[in-house]
Amino acid sequence: MSDGHIRLNRFEQRVVAQADEILSRMTLDEKVGQMNQLDPRWNREIDKLVRQSKVGSVLSIRSVSEINRLQRVAVEETRLGIPLLVGNDVIHGYRTIFPIPLAESCTWDPDLVERAARIAADEAAASGTDWIFAPMVDICRDPRWGRIAEGAGEDPTLGQAMARARVRGFQADGLAGERRIAACPKHYVAYGAAEAGKDYNTVDISERTLRDVFLPPFWAAIDEGAASIMSAFNEISGIPASANPFTLREVLRQEWDFEGVVLSDYNAVGELVAHGFAADLREAALRAVLAGIDMDMMGHAFPEHLVALVEEGAVPLSLVDDAVRRILCLKIALGLFERPYTDEGLEAQFILREDHRHAALDVARKSIVLLKNEGPILPLRTTKIALIGPLADDRAAPLGCWHCEGRPEDVETVLDGIRAVRPGCAVEFVEGCTVADDALDQVEDAVRAARQAEAAVLVLGENERMSGEARSRAYLGLPGRQQELLEAVVASGTPVVCVLMSGRPLVIPWMAEHVPAIVQAWHGGIRAGRAVADILFGEVNPSGKLTASFPRTVGQIPVYYGHKSTGRPFLGEGTVQFEQAYRSNYIDESNRPLYPFGYGLSYTTFAYKDLNVETPVVGMEDTLVVSATVTNEGELPGDEVVQLYVQDLVGSVTRPVKELKGFERLSLAAGESASVRFEVPISELGFHGLVLEYGVEAGAFKVWIGPDAESGLEAAFTVSAG
Ligand code: BGC
Repeated sequence: MSDGHIRLNRFEQRVVAQADEILSRMTLDEKVGQMNQLDPRWNREIDKLVRQSKVGSVLSIRSVSEINRLQRVAVEETRLGIPLLVGNDVIHGYRTIFPIPLAESCTWDPDLVERAARIAADEAAASGTDWIFAPMVDICRDPRWGRIAEGAGEDPTLGQAMARARVRGFQADGLAGERRIAACPKHYVAYGAAEAGKDYNTVDISERTLRDVFLPPFWAAIDEGAASIMSAFNEISGIPASANPFTLREVLRQEWDFEGVVLSDYNAVGELVAHGFAADLREAALRAVLAGIDMDMMGHAFPEHLVALVEEGAVPLSLVDDAVRRILCLKIALGLFERPYTDEGLEAQFILREDHRHAALDVARKSIVLLKNEGPILPLRTTKIALIGPLADDRAAPLGCWHCEGRPEDVETVLDGIRAVRPGCAVEFVEGCTVADDALDQVEDAVRAARQAEAAVLVLGENERMSGEARSRAYLGLPGRQQELLEAVVASGTPVVCVLMSGRPLVIPWMAEHVPAIVQAWHGGIRAGRAVADILFGEVNPSGKLTASFPRTVGQIPVYYGHKSTGRPFLGEGTVQFEQAYRSNYIDESNRPLYPFGYGLSYTTFAYKDLNVETPVVGMEDTLVVSATVTNEGELPGDEVVQLYVQDLVGSVTRPVKELKGFERLSLAAGESASVRFEVPISELGFHGLVLEYGVEAGAFKVWIGPDAESGLEAAFTVSAG
């Protein structure tokens, strides 16, 4: 769907020449100023510092008039008139809030995700933002980590597709007022592998896993033209990511030839001291700049120490020049020198536009995952409903983490949605309890309401403050008294549907066993409630599929589909091995997740048949072609996300039991069949082998086409050495 986007990490000669010309006129102080990013919320002297050319970029201001005012100081009151770059966290929408990125990824629809990103960029551009600190492309296999909400889940192939889509959307051509925006994939790298799911925690990871799993989405974002990259807070096997010469210089600059800007995360340079990697802020600045950081976000290390470090000869001037050239190239390429100010009339034209709100609804509908539907109880045919739960009419929770300018008053709740979709339906709403504490006890009222209704819809889960940065959780069940509320309402005997709003996969074994229908709605943005109601009443057929496995218990974490075989593979319940000891399993729990990656139900059923490997033997330069027929066997039209997985059976190093290599969202009318044909270049089946070089190895493979990572039709093919 791309109508063009701008690549911002390769610059034309004209741009570089202009940057060099400016550079030639700059003092060392002015150069170091460009490498400093400040957050005016925490700095009362910001005007003075900008006027003294000590600031190259600001973050987290979102008032156009304030941005223009500060920009005027930079452009009109400094010697060189270099405009500021204005950065903001626009993670899933600016004012029109879309579902959280984890939910967006459950659409498996990169074009739609690109559209959402473009709308966010249009609104952000109209409000004076030049630089978006997104996409967050951290692979995460641990739902305890609150930031799983911000990414695209556990899989590198899907992660790459989503990373590309978001970069295209953010850096789209022709944004509001012909302004341009730079993307900033983050957090480089392996931040999502934090030990025990605790934010900012240590990461100890092999170079092979880093290269096979965690680096690919960053590479994809850069390959798509992303302007910049943000270095992470965590250490990577002993060396903090924000002063890591291997990831920042060797991989990023040398192997990937990245010419864009490297920005540290918030005070990540300063935190090198707490890591025990630098004795003081001076050494922190030294190690970060030598490793390849171009701009220090709120670290104060560069502004305080870099000039002296260069003057002492500890930091070569050429390093500073390279960093400043990159920053200037970006400012030039964004058009900031020609158009530093934002037209203050633009916001009114773009913010919360009707087509934006409609797109938010479209994404919300497609991101909802139907986890269970016994009976089937859904879609609801009842006319008398008890709507229960602390999130059923909560206007803040659907905004999720990092909701930028999103406002509760923009949000449609599930109660609003039901009233809009089924105005004739009698709804009794009982909050029941609060999300996080025991401040409210309406359990008895809820049970009474359920008894009097034909069906009870419970809206439960996490509020907007329970996921995102610094929101790791050790218990992943329903917080507060919600489980008690749920069990009491189920005991009423009235059929129950649970709508789960959350920023992560929750651990819900009791619900999965006792509740006939479960709708995973995530934090679905401003149109969440309407989208949920559309699904509940069958106005929309659910089509989302999980992008992160749902554990049965916290003790299984990390549980993900692309694990290794081990020397004692566990072959699953129902096989003889289940009773066998000395296998890689638990004595008290299944190995399987509660709901696997790729899983999601529909109100219709899809049958897979005729798997055909058109290329049973393929050479290294060839393309694997595999097809299957998918039939909508039900009575409703529906969308199915068809998935292609492979397994490389034997390698110079061990390989995952399954790897996603393709997917396609199909729309099928009732009774309709379609042939899905995947073409995968063999070069995409490679990995980092014995000597850590990427390559494909000849040999036998399995291939599956199916509806999720645990099922599907299976066949085989061989990659020949030729
Ligand atoms: C987060 C980043 C974010 C930055 C600026 C940090 O704490 O880790 O994701 O972009 O703050 O707000």
